[in-house]
Amino acid sequence: CGRKEIPVLDLIVRNARLAPPQTELSDIGILDGAFVEIHPRIGAEARQTIDAAGLFVTPPFVESHVHLDTAMTAGQPRWNKSGTLFEGIECWSERKALLSEQDVLERATAAVTWEVAHGVLHIRSHVDICDPGLTALRALLQLKKTMAPWVDIQLVAFPQDGILGYPGGARLLEDAIKAGADAVGGIPHYELTREDGVESLKTVFSLADTYGRLVDVHCDEIDDEQSRFVEVMSALALRTGLRDMVTASHTTAMHSYGGAYAAKLLRFCARSGINFVANPLVNIHLQGRFDTFPKRRGLTRIKEMTQMGINVSLGHDDILDPWYPMGTGSMLDVAHMAAHVGQMMGTEEQDAVFRMITYGGARTLHIEDSYGISVGRPADLVVLDASDGRDAIRRQAVARFVVSHGRIVSQSVPAHTTVNLGDGDCEVDFQMSQAGNSREE
Ligand code: FE2
Repeated sequence: CGRKEIPVLDLIVRNARLAPPQTELSDIGILDGAFVEIHPRIGAEARQTIDAAGLFVTPPFVESHVHLDTAMTAGQPRWNKSGTLFEGIECWSERKALLSEQDVLERATAAVTWEVAHGVLHIRSHVDICDPGLTALRALLQLKKTMAPWVDIQLVAFPQDGILGYPGGARLLEDAIKAGADAVGGIPHYELTREDGVESLKTVFSLADTYGRLVDVHCDEIDDEQSRFVEVMSALALRTGLRDMVTASHTTAMHSYGGAYAAKLLRFCARSGINFVANPLVNIHLQGRFDTFPKRRGLTRIKEMTQMGINVSLGHDDILDPWYPMGTGSMLDVAHMAAHVGQMMGTEEQDAVFRMITYGGARTLHIEDSYGISVGRPADLVVLDASDGRDAIRRQAVARFVVSHGRIVSQSVPAHTTVNLGDGDCEVDFQMSQAGNSREE
């Protein structure tokens, strides 16, 4: 009789506060793992409902750079006492000799679980392939497959000890790509000479071109102002046409470049379209170690890049490993540090930092076409205990609900504190964004 049947949806998130330009609260309808309707009031029923009650609902966080194979190995077999990147590499090479697939799988699964609890559903992990057995890679390929229904994991074949500087490095890199790694990695500043570094990048780009892979290189992760491999990456990205499929990670030496060189370089980078990933938690901890005072911060120029329209995203890099004995897998923790070290505290700058762990990350990972809360896209979202992105960074907001492909994969209950200062109990609700606290009468 012409009456349209209203389907029963799988999940409706009601009263969601979406990012501007949306001003009124929205209902978000989900069916068969995809967003099917976004409207101030959805009339349909659903098998499951979340009342967001005006809380901020965002696309999931994107972890642009982590090492899942090294996670949770801090202190094994010994602690990195100097706190330097290079002692970290030494500690890791000792631990690497003890790897088994099961060992990697268990630690990496735990790290991914922590990240999901914090609202991360897209992860790019580097995996050390300077191991004739490719043990870590095999374990992480298995993890990628197991997690695929819920968490999207990209793997970068990362030659930790060098492509030319490690025996058989180039062959192992190619084997890793053939085995299924999504991106080709490199470490030019750790090759034996400047020339070897340039040569190693040519190998990286040639493999990416041949096998149709992305590129993500640990580039200039050093304080040395003479380390200038970003310019080589930028030129190769232009010449090969790989352009925005290319990412330069760390680039901490850029913090030490003179103004004239940096200004020229960033113009070239904008032209080539490459992405940058900064790892502020680890960069502020590892860089400047050979300085007395004044000490350099060692974070790449994320503020200036943002101003020039260059895509920047952020990574946790290390979680409890030889390079970083802290971390919980929270991208809001990373963003908090980025805002401080990058001196990005203006309101629009704080918004830009939030973009680095959401849309900026999606651009780096090349998943923009399936990312974001809009009809037809995969139903991935996070209900944050916050009013907006700035508020989420400031208070390290709890991810109340994490939804992947329409299924609730994580729920958190915010902490609750009662303070007694002799004048009756005071309820300190850190989860309230504006009111701050309320006193019991
Ligand atoms: Fe890294």
